[in-house]
Amino acid sequence: SGANSDSRGALVVLEGLDRCGKTTQSGRLLTYLEGLGHPAELWRFPDRSTSVGQMISSYLSNQSQLDDHTVHLLFSANRWEKRSLMETKLKSGTTLIVDRYSYSGVAFSSAKGLDFEWCKAPEIGLLAPDVVLYLNIPPEKAAERGGYGGERYEKLEFQRKVAQSYQNLHDASWKIIDASRPVEDIEKQLQEIVSDCIKTCQKGKPLSFLWS
Ligand code: TYD
Repeated sequence: SGANSDSRGALVVLEGLDRCGKTTQSGRLLTYLEGLGHPAELWRFPDRSTSVGQMISSYLSNQSQLDDHTVHLLFSANRWEKRSLMETKLKSGTTLIVDRYSYSGVAFSSAKGLDFEWCKAPEIGLLAPDVVLYLNIPPEKAAERGGYGGERYEKLEFQRKVAQSYQNLHDASWKIIDASRPVEDIEKQLQEIVSDCIKTCQKGKPLSFLWS
């Protein structure tokens, strides 16, 4: 067969409401890929380690107040500041498992009442995921799980609106996963989807850009 020079890692995004199980499943996916000897990293947005990320973190924990448009642009900037590293990693063959991405950006901000197209605009040109794993769970069920923390968006009424906003974002790259099932069943399903996705990327599927 021989190595394909256009071979690259896959950009895998997990999305869903707060408490849908994304963080558990992204950790398990990473362990699975490491077990296969496939180079992989776990990323998350917001990336609270940068100075933009620290502004977002302070906003989310109600330690600072920001205009809704401003915080939307900060979330987007937080993805832009990681974009070139993301591309480098993918091209070097590393698969990235990303816990939240531009879809969270649009779903959460438009749930506050900001215009949907306005919310999408600053994401144009970021790398498009090869697959979006949407962990689908009723907002009421997510709320029952161990309770929400104290962060700004962790309220049932708001999560209902976010769930509706997510519905307007589905495209061909989305896989809707029933996140009410047992953790191990979801884990298996995700492993199959991601293995297929990685194969396609190794064969040289070109990178694409939002919003395609
Ligand atoms: P996250 O750090 O994933 O939550 P947690 O503290 O539960 O691990 O995300 C924090 C919140 O930020 C979450 O409610 C979703 C929201 N969010 C946005 O509003 N816009 C965005 O672009 C992103 C990535 C997250």
